Amino acid sequence: LVVARECDDARGPAVEIIDQTRLPHELVVRELVSLDCAARAISEMWVRGAPLVGVTAAYGLALGLLQGASDADLAGYAATLRATRPTAVNLAWALERMLVHLRPLPASTRASAAFELAARLADEDVEVNLAIGRYGLALLQSLQERALRKRSHLAILTHCNAGWLATVDRGTATAPIYAARDAGLPLHVFVDETRPRNQGASLTAWELQQEAIAHTLIVDNAGGHLMQHGEVDVCMVGTDRTTREGDVCNKIGTYLKALAAHDNGVPFYVAAPTSSIDWSIAAKDIPIEERASDEVTHLAGVTDAGEFTRVRVTGPGTTARNPGFDVTPARLITGFITEFGVFRPDELPLLRRRLEAR
Ligand code: MRU
Repeated sequence: LVVARECDDARGPAVEIIDQTRLPHELVVRELVSLDCAARAISEMWVRGAPLVGVTAAYGLALGLLQGASDADLAGYAATLRATRPTAVNLAWALERMLVHLRPLPASTRASAAFELAARLADEDVEVNLAIGRYGLALLQSLQERALRKRSHLAILTHCNAGWLATVDRGTATAPIYAARDAGLPLHVFVDETRPRNQGASLTAWELQQEAIAHTLIVDNAGGHLMQHGEVDVCMVGTDRTTREGDVCNKIGTYLKALAAHDNGVPFYVAAPTSSIDWSIAAKDIPIEERASDEVTHLAGVTDAGEFTRVRVTGPGTTARNPGFDVTPARLITGFITEFGVFRPDELPLLRRRLEAR
């Protein structure tokens, strides 16, 4: 474990994060000491995953307020943080909660109030994921009997990393898996590698290893084949932004998994904290992050000697497109596992009414 103080040498409050760009090769904890540093952590993906990005932004705002806390400062900090990554709605959601709470306060109390609320958002994230875990466990138990007629365990396929690395703890798509493990349900997880950044291979596989959950890494193109051969009982993924109609924006490649699941009668569930639902947007208007093309043309990893390196897998002249997310239409989704229970896409209005009545 390496602890690194990042961005500047100033002493003062710091927010500790795991630098996910170093996993699975090194566990590096970095200390974010300023708003700019938090913004860099999000845009360079030291932290990633919708809920974690939201909480990091909340702490980033709090760190900024230590330097100045006028109305203009507050608006400027929020704009800087909002611009770090476009797709996950949790970022805007967390910043909006912070702004609504902080705007009416006198400037002198804003920084301490911001740290308190950021901590509350972090705690709430864990509570939400535990609830997703409880509802997801019941779901997995309902699928267990059929699976155990075929083999000795329930087989789950997941895409990207929607685990505790992507949240404050427990994860969203992994919360039911951890709850099922704790309940003694025999499980096996197929982990999509999730090119181009390999969040499955580098993060989910590492995380499941830490949790002693049986898992197998597969290339992104293998899921359809495994589903055709009855080797997957259920798909469970996270979401960066889900519309009120139940269209799911998540890591690129999720759509193809959902198509294969639909074609093979495999249930496809999305673990969706309500902070990931954008009630105001239509699927076609979701901003899809376009990332650098060298994430596609190059691969990062370590040599056998343990040195971090990058290699090019294409010829020098090859150009690449790199959309980071896609949208899976609601018709391909079996249900959403939320902190308030499991909802079919057409039941999302019920969930909305429930939220509005609180
Ligand atoms: O680009 P990333 O790694 O931030 O993308 C993450 C995902 O797509 C996750 O599946 C999603 O944020 C849900 S995390 C609980």
